[in-house]
Amino acid sequence: MEPHSLRLVVYGLAVVVASAILLLQNPVVASTHECDFGGIFNFGDSNSDTGGLSAAFGQAQSPHGESFFHAPAGRYCDGRLVVDFIAESLGLPYLNAYLDAVGSNFTHGANFATAGSTIRPQNTTLHQSGFSPISLNVQWYQFNDFHRRTQIFRQKERIFQELLPKPELFSRALYTFDIGQNDLTAGYFLNMSTGQVRASVPDILAQFKDIVQYIYGQGGRSFWIHNTAPVGCLPYILDRLKITAAQVDKAGCAAPFNDVAQYFNRKLKEVVVQLRKDLPLAAITYVDVYSVKYSLISQARKHGFKESLRACCGHGGKYNYNMHIGCGGKIKVHGKEVLVGKACEDPSVWINWDGVHYTEAANKWVFDQIVGGSFSDPPIPLKLACHRH
Ligand SMILES: *[C@@H]1O[C@H](CO)[C@@H](O)[C@H](O)[C@H]1NC(C)=O
Ligand SMILES: *[C@@H]1O[C@H](CO)[C@@H](O)[C@H](O)[C@H]1NC(C)=O
Ligand SMILES: *[C@@H]1O[C@H](CO)[C@@H](O)[C@H](O)[C@H]1NC(C)=O
Repeated sequence: MEPHSLRLVVYGLAVVVASAILLLQNPVVASTHECDFGGIFNFGDSNSDTGGLSAAFGQAQSPHGESFFHAPAGRYCDGRLVVDFIAESLGLPYLNAYLDAVGSNFTHGANFATAGSTIRPQNTTLHQSGFSPISLNVQWYQFNDFHRRTQIFRQKERIFQELLPKPELFSRALYTFDIGQNDLTAGYFLNMSTGQVRASVPDILAQFKDIVQYIYGQGGRSFWIHNTAPVGCLPYILDRLKITAAQVDKAGCAAPFNDVAQYFNRKLKEVVVQLRKDLPLAAITYVDVYSVKYSLISQARKHGFKESLRACCGHGGKYNYNMHIGCGGKIKVHGKEVLVGKACEDPSVWINWDGVHYTEAANKWVFDQIVGGSFSDPPIPLKLACHRH
C-alpha cells in the first residue's frame, strides 16, 4: 500500500472514530440517522386512496390511471398520488387498500383511506351526498381489527407470514394522514355558511385527535400529517357553489373557502402541538401541503404547467367540469357516444385532473416540495420523520 493511501485510511478511521464519539455524546447528531420505517399505514380521503372506495363501491373508471398504471388503479388520478411517491422514496411497494380482498400484500402496511372520507361520520349515504361511509373512525376500527387479526393469522399459517406485517411493524411504520377537506365541503353542500363551517372545525379536529391517540395506544410512533389543501381553487367548488367576483382572489380561487381551510390548518397545528405534549414518544410532523398547492396553482406557468384551474378530464363550462358528467362518463356528440376525458391529451401540463383531484404531475411536484422538510414542522425530511424534536 502506498504511504499516501495508508495516510488516507488512517485519516478515514480517525473520522469514523470521531463521529462515533460525537454520536454517543450528542443525541441531536444521533437522531439524524435515517429511519427504518419498513412500512406505511395511511388514513385519508381521495387524496391518498389507492383502491379503497373502488374495492367497496366500484372501480374508478378509465381514463383514471392512464398515465402511469395504463388502466384504472383505484386512484382518482391519471397516475400516482403523493402517498405513492412517499412509498417509492422510502423503498416500499405501493400501498394496497385494506378493503382490496384480492391480490393484496400487506407486509409493508395498508391503506385505510377511501375517496369521499370525512373525519366525522356523516349522517347521509354515499348515494345521497357522495361522502364515503368510511369516515376516519371507521378507518380506525379497520386498522384496529387489522392489527389484531394479522397477528393471529401470522401464527396460524405460514402463507400469512408472507402477506401480513410482523408485529414490530406497528411501532416502526410511518402513519400518514391526509383528511379534513371533505368535512369542510360536506358543510358547504348542506348549504351551511362559511361561518357555520368554521364553527364545526373544533369538533372535527377533536375527533381527529382521538384517532391519533388511539393509534399511539396501538404502538404507532411516527406520524406524518398533511394539512388541508386550498379547496377554493378546485373546479367542483368554483363551479358548484355561488361565488361572487369579489370573492375570487388573484389566482382565480374562491377566497372564503380557502380562508376556512387555513383556519382549519391553524387549529390542526394547535392539535399537533397538544398531541406532542400528550404523547411523549411520538414524532409528529405537520406538513403544510396547503402552501405548496396554492403556490403551484397561483404560479402554474413558473412551475411548468399550462392549466391551473380547469379540469383536464372533464366536460363543459368555465372549468371544464360538470358534476353530472364526470371524468370517464359518456356524452353524446353528433349522435355518437364519446368518453369524457378523451380530449385531455397531455395531463403532465395540467394541475387539476378531474375537477376534484390533482394530476400525477401535480402530485409529483407537491411531493418534491415536501420530501425535504421545507414545508414541515419540525422542518425535517421525510426520511428522518421518526425522530422526535
Ligand atoms: C350526525 O348526527 C348526530 C346526531 O344528531 C350529530 O351529533 C352529529 O354531529 C351529526 N354529524 C354531522 C357531521 O353533522
Ligand atoms: C409480499 O411482499 C413481500 C415484500 O415485497 C414479499 O417478500 C412477499 O414474498 C410477498 N408475498 C407474496 C405471497 O408474494
Ligand atoms: C341548498 O340550496 C339549494 C339552492 O337553494 C337547494 O337546491 C338545495 O336543495 C339545498 N341543499 C340542501 C342539502 O339543503
